[in-house]
Amino acid sequence: MGDSDDDVPGLSAEATAALREFYAEQRGRQEPAGGPERLYSVGAVQEDWRMSQFWYDDETAKRLAEEIIQQAGKGGRIACLSSPSVYQRVKRLDLDGSGDVSVVLLEYDRRFSAYGDEFIYYDYNDPLCLPENAAPHSFDIVVADPPYLSEECLSKVATTVKFLSKGKILLCTGAIMEEHAEKLMGLKMCKFLPKHSHNLGNEFRCYVNYESHLLL
Ligand SMILES: C[S@@+](CC[C@H](N)C(=O)[O-])C[C@H]1O[C@@H](n2cnc3c(N)ncnc32)[C@H](O)[C@@H]1O
Repeated sequence: MGDSDDDVPGLSAEATAALREFYAEQRGRQEPAGGPERLYSVGAVQEDWRMSQFWYDDETAKRLAEEIIQQAGKGGRIACLSSPSVYQRVKRLDLDGSGDVSVVLLEYDRRFSAYGDEFIYYDYNDPLCLPENAAPHSFDIVVADPPYLSEECLSKVATTVKFLSKGKILLCTGAIMEEHAEKLMGLKMCKFLPKHSHNLGNEFRCYVNYESHLLL
């Protein structure tokens, strides 16, 4: 981010305005009501299909955010890998006072660097190229939504997930990845059906490696 708050690349006009207000507040000025809500709204950064970006609808993002906040526990640490909508929804719940967690977003799309220190640049092709604030086994739960439906992509993402997690994993990916998810991370497919803001052509599911209401 440069000195000017006016040219945040790729953010919608509304999110840019919210970000400007956010930084103004950090500089000690008054922040208009609703600023951070817009900043962390799902869809604040527009989908770019060249990066395989398909955002959840708000209800799904909220359900997944509530799940990982509950699983992380009070004061827990959450890592969202290639899942910006979940990160944004956790932040909104945290601002509402239902959180009490810390959360980071590991993402390839640098437009999300607008989220400051909570953004960690991540390319699944280099799965262990991570900074100090993404230390081994330092997150109570890791949620991941890999960009591609291939064993190669999932196995590299699994390397990062297992490196970061203290144990709990929530994966969102296609139903066709069930066998690989089981083999690579010991994950079970949930009954809960994640939905996207634009309909996807392929069947999409969640997977967990712990007891969860999402399984039922
Ligand atoms: C299928 S989308 C998952 C988004 C999720 N449904 C959400 O709403 O938050 C895949 C994600 O992978 C990210 N991505 C694309 N290329 C990547 C790469 N090389 N390494 C890591 N993540 C990547 C995209 O920016 C996108 O956020």
